[in-house]
Amino acid sequence: MSMAESLEAIQHEVEQGLAQASSPEEIEAIRVQVLGKKGSLTAVMHMMGSVSKEERPHMGKLANDVREQVTSLIAKRKSELMDACMLKQFEAQKVDITLPGRAYPKGTQHLISSIREEIEDIFTGLGYTVEDGPYVETTYYNFTALNAPEDHPSRSAKDTFYLVDRAPEGKEHHVLGESDVLLRTQTSGVQVHVMEHTKPPIYMICPGTVFRPDTADANHLPQFTQVEGLVVDKGITFGDLKGTLDYFCKEIFGKDRKTRYRPHFFPFTEPSCEVDVSCGVCKGSGCRFCKYTGWLEILGCGLVDPNVFGYVGIDPEVYSGFAFGIGVERVAALRYDLPDLRMLMAGDMRFLRQF
Ligand code: DAH
Repeated sequence: MSMAESLEAIQHEVEQGLAQASSPEEIEAIRVQVLGKKGSLTAVMHMMGSVSKEERPHMGKLANDVREQVTSLIAKRKSELMDACMLKQFEAQKVDITLPGRAYPKGTQHLISSIREEIEDIFTGLGYTVEDGPYVETTYYNFTALNAPEDHPSRSAKDTFYLVDRAPEGKEHHVLGESDVLLRTQTSGVQVHVMEHTKPPIYMICPGTVFRPDTADANHLPQFTQVEGLVVDKGITFGDLKGTLDYFCKEIFGKDRKTRYRPHFFPFTEPSCEVDVSCGVCKGSGCRFCKYTGWLEILGCGLVDPNVFGYVGIDPEVYSGFAFGIGVERVAALRYDLPDLRMLMAGDMRFLRQF
C-alpha cells in the first residue's frame, strides 16, 4: 500500500469509527488509536523520511491535511456526544433549566428594633448622640451612683437578677442575691458612665435591653427595652424637659395625642414625673385598654439630682440637666393598641408580619 493509500485508508477508518461510536469514551479510544504515540497516523508520519525528495513536499502536505481533518472530525464528534450525554443526564434528573430561580422570603426588622431606630432618629435629629452601655452592671452604676439608698426596695433580689461573683481561688462564692454584680434593671446607669468620661454639654440617648425578675403577663416582661436620655448643660430647666418630651411624643404617636406630667419619685431626679399619653383606643374617654383612665404611662423623667452630679464630679452650681427613660415595648403597645406585651416576644410571624 502506498503512503497516499494508507492516509486515505486511515481517514476512511476514522470516519467510519466516528459514525459508529456512541460515547465520548469510544471517541477517545479512536483518537489514541490514530493520533496517539503509537497511533496509525503517527506511524505513517514517521515514515516520511523514506519518501523520495521529489515526492516529499506533496506527501507532507497530504499527511498534514489528513491529520488536521481527522483531528477536527474527532473533536467535533466528541463535543456532539458530550452534549447529548449531558442532555440525557438532565432528562434523567428531570431538571428544567429554564425554570426561574426560587425566591427566598426576605426578613424584616422586628417591631421593637424599628421603633428603637425611629426613637434614635428623632433624638439624633435634635443633635443627641447615641451611646451604649454594659448589660452586666455593678450595684454602683445601677443603684449607688444613681442616688439609690442601701435599703431602696429596687435593690432587693426580688426585683433584680444578681449574678454570682467569681470568687478568688479557695474563697467561697457569693450567694445568689447578695452579689454586687447584676443584670441591669434600667439603662439609667449609662448616665453615670457617660458623665464619667464626657464633659458637658451632654445630649445623649442610650437604647438597650434591661432585665427584671417579673413574671411575664399582659403588661410585664422579664426582659424589655428602654431608651435612656440625658441632657447636661448650663441653664437647663424643666421647660427644656417638657418641650423636648412633648416634641418626642407628638413625633412618635401623632400630633393629636395629648401628654400629661404626673409627679413621681425616682432617686436620681428631683423633681421627677411620669409622662402619660392619651389613649389611642378611646381617644381619652376611658376604655379597658387604658383601665378606664384615658391615659397610658410611657416614660419616667426629671431634673438630674445634684447628688448624682456629685458622684461624677460635675458642679451642680454651674450645670443642670434632665433625664428620661422610655419603655420601647410600651411605645409599641400604645402605638398599635396591643393588648398584651407578650405578643412582642412570642415570635409569631402572623403577628410580626403586620408591621
Ligand atoms: N430608670 C427608670 C425605670 O426604669 C426610668 C427613668 C425614670 C429614667 C426617670 C430616667 C428618669 O432617666 O429620669 O423605671
